[in-house]
Order: sequence, then C-alpha cells, then structure tokens
Amino acid sequence: MSKYQEIFEKNQKWIEEKQATNAQFFEHLAKGQEPEFLYIGCSDSRVTAEEMMGLDPGEVFVHRNIANVISNTDLNAMSVIEYAVGHLDVKHIIVCGHYYCGGVKAAMQAQDLGLLNPWLRNIRDVYRLHKAELLAIQDEEARYKRLVELNVQEQCVNVTKTAVVQRKYLEKGTPIVHGWVFDIKTGKLIDLNLDFDEILHDIQEIYNLGTKN
Ligand code: CO
Repeated sequence: MSKYQEIFEKNQKWIEEKQATNAQFFEHLAKGQEPEFLYIGCSDSRVTAEEMMGLDPGEVFVHRNIANVISNTDLNAMSVIEYAVGHLDVKHIIVCGHYYCGGVKAAMQAQDLGLLNPWLRNIRDVYRLHKAELLAIQDEEARYKRLVELNVQEQCVNVTKTAVVQRKYLEKGTPIVHGWVFDIKTGKLIDLNLDFDEILHDIQEIYNLGTKN
C-alpha cells in the first residue's frame, strides 16, 4: 500500500480510537470551537503544532507559514489574528520558531530565491535590527540559532502591533503573546520568556492603536 493510501486507513483507526474514549467525540467537535490558544508556527513538516503540545482537536487555532513570519500586508495572517482574537477570544498567542529552520537559514545566505525573496526579507530585516548582537557571535551555528530566537521575538512584536491584540488586551488583560522555540534535536519546547507587557509598552510609543496608554 502506498503512503498516500495508508492515510485513509490511519484516519479510520484514528476515528475508532477517538470514539473508543468518547463516543460523542465528533458530534461534540461539530458543535463549534472555543480554543484557548492561537499558535503561529513554521510550515516545516518536523514541527507539528498539536502533537508536540499534546493538544486535541478544538484546543488550538493554527497558522503556519515559512519561518513563522507575521507581516502586516499578509491578509492571511492578519485575518487569522483578527478572527482568533476578535471572535474566538483566545487567551494566549504563541509564536513558535524552531532551530534549524530552513527559512531562517536561507535568509542568512547570499542567494536569489525568486518569489521567496520578499518573504525572507522579513527575516533579513530582523538580522539588520539585531546586527550588532548577531555579528558578535563567532560560531555560525550559535548565530543561526540566535537568529531563530530573535525572529520569534520580532514576530511577537509584529503580532502586538495589531489593533485587535492591543484593544483586547487593554480591555480584558488577554491575549498574552508568548515566544517559543522548538528544539528539533531534543523535542523540547523552550519558552523565551519574553515580557509581553514590556513589548506592548515599548511599541505603543509609535504603534499605539489601543484606546488608552
Ligand atoms: Co522553519
């Protein structure tokens, strides 16, 4: 049997497993969703969202793209944030990067990748913003890993620049934005412990779209 055909067999097994623990599992899912988390991560096939977090269907709203970039002209990402925060009322937004990210690696190299250029430009901008720190790191792998972390940090800043996040947080105290890195070599999720209040306070000097200071 081909890998492709196997998927449908596995799907049937998964249905049976879910129903064995809860006969109404799918009927319940069909009623609607109230996820507490919005996860923004890389499209990389090795970085699964639900599986590595141990979450079930219905528990996390997911957006993935190359190198977990949040660009304010990306209608897709902006719509996901608007819907997850404004309508689903998620309590936590997680931006999760990962070490050995091909998108971040590509942005560190001198090469023309065609249509990928404008996308990876977002990561080159992160590099330029943090040039002094990055160039001070001699070891290339350590510099690569640090850029992965700084990209997560800057994408958290970009999430925080949106009006819906600022407004909701000032009204209700949520959502909180978190920056994580998934370490592919160990399977560990690392919380970068970014200070969301400080990020919001810093950017509000210029990007204030909320109702109060
Ligand atoms: Co990646």
